[in-house]
Amino acid sequence: MSEAVQRFEAGLADVEGAYQGALGAANSETELREANAKIVGPQGALTQLMKLMRDLPGDRRKEFGQLANALKGKVTALFDDRLAAIARAQREAELTGPALDVTMPARWSREGRLHPITRVKHELLDIFASLGFEVAEGPEADTHENCFDKLGFPPDHPATDMQDTFFLTHTERGDDITTLLRTHTSTVQIREMGRRPAPLAVVSPGVVYRRDDDATHSPMFHQIEGFLVDEGVSFADLKGVLGVFVERLFGADVEMRFRASYFPFVEPGAEVDVRRPGGKWMEILGCGMIHPTVLENVGYDPKKVSGFAFGLGIDRIAMVKYAIPNIKLLFENDQRFLQSL
Ligand code: PHE
Repeated sequence: MSEAVQRFEAGLADVEGAYQGALGAANSETELREANAKIVGPQGALTQLMKLMRDLPGDRRKEFGQLANALKGKVTALFDDRLAAIARAQREAELTGPALDVTMPARWSREGRLHPITRVKHELLDIFASLGFEVAEGPEADTHENCFDKLGFPPDHPATDMQDTFFLTHTERGDDITTLLRTHTSTVQIREMGRRPAPLAVVSPGVVYRRDDDATHSPMFHQIEGFLVDEGVSFADLKGVLGVFVERLFGADVEMRFRASYFPFVEPGAEVDVRRPGGKWMEILGCGMIHPTVLENVGYDPKKVSGFAFGLGIDRIAMVKYAIPNIKLLFENDQRFLQSL
């Protein structure tokens, strides 16, 4: 008998003797597939054996081919049986095993929410919107004219010292254009009145910049500007609107007072303070009757129309509302602080 025949017979006998044990010992689908691959996979024992077929004498090839194929068929049939049995056992274990524990505590995902300044801003705008004011916005970088000149600040007036800011220069169509980071939202008075006739009632929220930096002042802070122009508007209308505003925001037991003050763009001008029962007076806004010169500067006729304006600090109101001692806390985004509000 040729050597090749001997090797082939021995190889077939090895596989025949081992495959049932190997597949039978596998306890999971992975183990089963691994065991199966060792027999009929590309590197498997039976596959390798079949590659030796061409060394066999021609008259024996058919016979051995049939034997090898029959063996492969038996291996595959057992593999399929075992695979089904393993799947059944797994399903059985799921059904008879411990049930899903619905009392286990859920894992909460952390949800973000609006920043306190944004929440207060929405609250303030809602109050003014309910009183008939519309909302308009202006750019943070604006001209010297809109920020100072048209509001009646005389050139180099000391009032502009309090509102020192960054000047920005860029070139547009060959010309150097100077803008500045606005020091107040009163710029929007000039912009909105300048582009449409009275009557109008507008509130304008936004960011402003100043050279201020201490516990109650930040170089960047938030304001809401409000203004209303129509025929026959008086200081009584201003008091009425701000009175409703303060009552809605802080409650009926909060006192309010007007203190005479100076802003170049109003006459008369005032500051408004509020006080909780037993508390200290806190300044929350500046206001006044829009100066006739400002009305002229935007093309209105001060003999026909009059108006009031006010500017309030959103951060300042958030500090009063949430009793926050330092304005910087609002900008550090420390989660421990924000979650305490
Ligand atoms: N623009 C003033 C400020 O920022 C506030 C103000 C607005 C005062 C409107 C009067 C009228 O200090």
